[in-house]
Formats: sequence, structure tokens, C-alpha cells
Amino acid sequence: MKYVNKAIAVVTLASSTLLLSACGDEPSTAAPVGVSPQKMSDALHAVMEADRAIYTKKVIARLVKQEKLIKASEHWEDEKALPLPAQMFRMGSERVAENTSDFSYSLISAWPINKQNEPKTDAEKEGLKYIEDNPGKNFYKTESLGGQAYFTAIYPDVAVAAPCADCHNDHKDSPKTDFKIGDTMGGVVIRIPL
Ligand code: HEC
Repeated sequence: MKYVNKAIAVVTLASSTLLLSACGDEPSTAAPVGVSPQKMSDALHAVMEADRAIYTKKVIARLVKQEKLIKASEHWEDEKALPLPAQMFRMGSERVAENTSDFSYSLISAWPINKQNEPKTDAEKEGLKYIEDNPGKNFYKTESLGGQAYFTAIYPDVAVAAPCADCHNDHKDSPKTDFKIGDTMGGVVIRIPL
């Protein structure tokens, strides 16, 4: 009986070895599995951009501009209004910061309504200038902050819908009043510690 079991074990081993060699392409030389910081950052940005554009078009533009049902305001809680796209974005980024330190993100501009959204680091200043001068292009750099190296990416934040330009142009604190649809209004910064 013992003998039979052993025989079965040998057969099973042999067939699993066969299976392994049949499905594996020389595992020792396989490319390392992983995603580059740039690819990770680009993918995160694709989600942020989609959420931001859809909120502006399908919620703000529709309910505020077309249906005239509700307004969008910085003081959305007191005024029972819709939060601004930039506020939605910041609330998301604050929630992400509570859950992970694998990356962080924010929204900045050379013409900020809120002075806190001014570029601060050298990479942010250089990146904003680059995306303004090179429409449609992203900016990537490695920067060191407080002794920690980061992969830093800056993506153009574009006026994808009329309310983007209109609201900024009409805002009393906006240093720029001639934004048009399609303009780069600022940049999304994504930072990944290396
Ligand atoms: C209803 C008004 C309104 C709309 C619509 C709006 N914004 Fe803003 N935006 C603001 C205000 C107010 C701030 C500052 C909010 C803050 O940081 O608390 C801001 C912040 C920003 C910032 C950060 C720099 C700054 O000005 O403080 C960028 C960049 C920006 N918005 C771009 C856009 C884009 C692009 C859209 C469309 C997708 C958009 N905004 C839609 C009012 C608006």
C-alpha cells in the first residue's frame, strides 16, 4: 500500500514539473514585475482628470448652468451649494493622505484664486512654467525635499468646460480674468517618494 502511495507521489511530482515547464518561459530570466513611478503617476492622473472633468461637466455645468437648480460655491456647506471642483479635488487628496503615504497630490497655479495654491518648490515653479509653455505636455522631475527623494510629475489642468474659465474670470480674487476654454489654468502635482 505504501508502495502505491509513493508511486502516485512520484507521478504527481513528475506531472507538476511538466506543467511548470510547460507554462513558464525560463523564469530566471523573466523581466522584473513592477510599475515605474512615471507609469503609476500617469495612471493616477488619468483617474483624477476623469473625475474632475466629469464632475465639472455632468454636475456643475448641468445643475448650475443648464438646469439652474443649485449654485456652486466655496461656502457650499453654509449656502447649501455644490462644492467647487477644486474643493472636491482637495477633499479627495486629503482623504488619500489619511489612507496612504505612497503618493500625494495637489492643485497649483501661477494665477491662484487661493494664495495657498501657489507653486512652492523649485520643481513646482519649473513645472508650471513648462506646462504653460508646452501645451499638452507633462513635466517630470526627481526632487529632494527634507532629505527624501521624490518622483514629481506636473500635469496641465485645462479649462475642459465653460464653467472653469467663467468662474475664475468672474472671481474677485482671481489675478487673471481672460481664461478661455482649452487654456491651461494650472497644474496637478503628483509626488511619489522613491
Ligand atoms: C464655480 C466656480 C469655479 C469653477 C466652476 C471652477 N473653479 Fe477652479 N477654483 C475656484 C476657486 C474659488 C478656487 C480656489 C479654491 C480653494 O483652493 O479653496 C479654485 C481653484 C482652482 C485651481 C487652483 C489655483 C487657484 O486658483 O486657487 C485651479 C488650477 C483651478 N481652480 C482650475 C479649474 C478648472 C480647470 C476648472 C474646471 C474643470 C475649475 N477650476 C472650475 C472656482 C472655480
